[in-house]
Parts: sequence; C-alpha cells; structure tokens
Amino acid sequence: MGINSKPVVFAALSAVVILVGTVVTVFVPLFMPSTQPVSSFVKPYTAIELEGRDIYIREGCNNCHTQTVRPLRTEVLRYGEYSKGEEFAYDRPFLWGSRRTGPDLNRVGGKYPDSWHYKHMQSPQSMFELSNMPPYGWLASNKLDTSVSFRKTSIQRFGYTEDQVKQQIADYKTRVTAQDYDSKETRDLVTPANLRGDLTEMDAIIAYMQKLGRDVKSMGAGQ
Ligand code: HEC
Repeated sequence: MGINSKPVVFAALSAVVILVGTVVTVFVPLFMPSTQPVSSFVKPYTAIELEGRDIYIREGCNNCHTQTVRPLRTEVLRYGEYSKGEEFAYDRPFLWGSRRTGPDLNRVGGKYPDSWHYKHMQSPQSMFELSNMPPYGWLASNKLDTSVSFRKTSIQRFGYTEDQVKQQIADYKTRVTAQDYDSKETRDLVTPANLRGDLTEMDAIIAYMQKLGRDVKSMGAGQ
C-alpha cells in the first residue's frame, strides 16, 4: 500500500518535509554572515535624519513612494544604481514600499538642492502641475521635537553618545539658520517668521531626503 492511503503518516511526513524546508530556507540564512553584508560606506542616520524618517513614516509617504531600485535596466536608467542589501542595515523598519504613485526615492539624496525640496514640499503642484502629491507646507509650521532624539538613536543602536546627538542637532540648526545657507531664501519663504531661527519638521524631512542613497553615491556609484 502506498503512502497515499495512510493519511496520518502522510500528514506527519509532509510536516517534517515542510519543517526542514523552512529551517533551510529561513533560519539557516538568518545566521549566515553572507546574507547580512556590511559596508563601511553605509553610515547610520544622524539624529535629525532619523527624526525626518519618523515624520516620513508618520505622514505615510511610503504609501506613495518606494525606496528600492530594482536591478532592471529601465529602473537603473531612471533612478540610478540599483539598491544593495547592505544599504538598509540601519533601516528599522525598512521602507521599501510596494506602491509607486510617486517615483522611487532611494537615490533622491543629492539629486536636488535643499531649496528644491522646500519648494516642492510646500507645493508640489507649483513645480509639476499634474502632481497628485499632497502639499506638506504645514510641516514648516511645526517646531521639530528633539526631546527624545537621543532615546531613538539609542534604541536603534546607532552608537551615539548623548553629547554627540546634541551636537548633531545644534550643527544642523546652525547650518539651516545661517545667513549664508545656500537655500536660505526658499526656506525663509516657506517657514513662518517665528520659526526661522529654529529647526522645523520640514528641515528634518529634507535632511532625511538628502541622506537617501548618498552612502552609495559616495562608494563611487556605478560599480
Ligand atoms: C498621494 C501620493 C503621494 C504622497 C502621499 C507623497 N508623494 Fe511624493 N510624490 C508623489 C508624486 C506623484 C510625485 C511626482 C510628481 C512630483 O514631483 O510632485 C512625487 C514626488 C516626490 C519627490 C521628488 C522625487 C524626484 O525624484 O523628483 C519627493 C522628494 C517626494 N515626492 C517626497 C515625498 C515625501 C517626503 C512625502 C511625505 C511627506 C511624499 N512625497 C508623499 C506622490 C506622493
């Protein structure tokens, strides 16, 4: 009699086969270093970039934007170098997304100056008439809350000390509020007067946009 006529044995054997398959394809790779490549070029987010990332999640930008360039000719031509596993080492949770109402953002860092982003965030339609991206100008009216920034970087295990986090925040504030900041004019235009000397949520999300894919670009991209 074949195994097909013994349902209990068949079920037990199937369970064993599926279990072995699961262990081999899921758990073994989990502990293999080759499946978790590290790159010395990929740096953790600064406290400000991480705050921007949280705002990106809060606002659901990932519902319209992906963050992964597939290794297909059409994608590489449009967005740039395809995404590598090691790039996402500090992305918890990852934001690869699954829907491209808007373009992929994995290589947007450095593509435009900050002033472009301030203008685009405030009114995407002022730049692309048919854009269906909602305007996010009000982010510039929200002062950036950095009270738990250090805790966030600690939980993510980025390895910064509290002083380093304070320094990162102070440095970014100095940068965007400086008289000679190259995007000062546009920033002043979108930021309410009382917040021009402070960091806003808009500043943080733009810092995050400018970080996306930059590590790969610094690798000398294109290899
Ligand atoms: C309803 C869908 C939708 C949402 C939500 C959305 N976007 Fe977009 N986004 C688009 C579309 C469509 C475009 C292309 C037209 C344009 O640039 O406005 C775009 C373009 C962009 C670009 C320019 C990309 C490039 O390479 O030119 C950036 C940057 C961007 N979005 C950031 C964001 C951020 C940050 C958020 C969240 C605060 C967000 N988007 C939310 C639809 C969306």
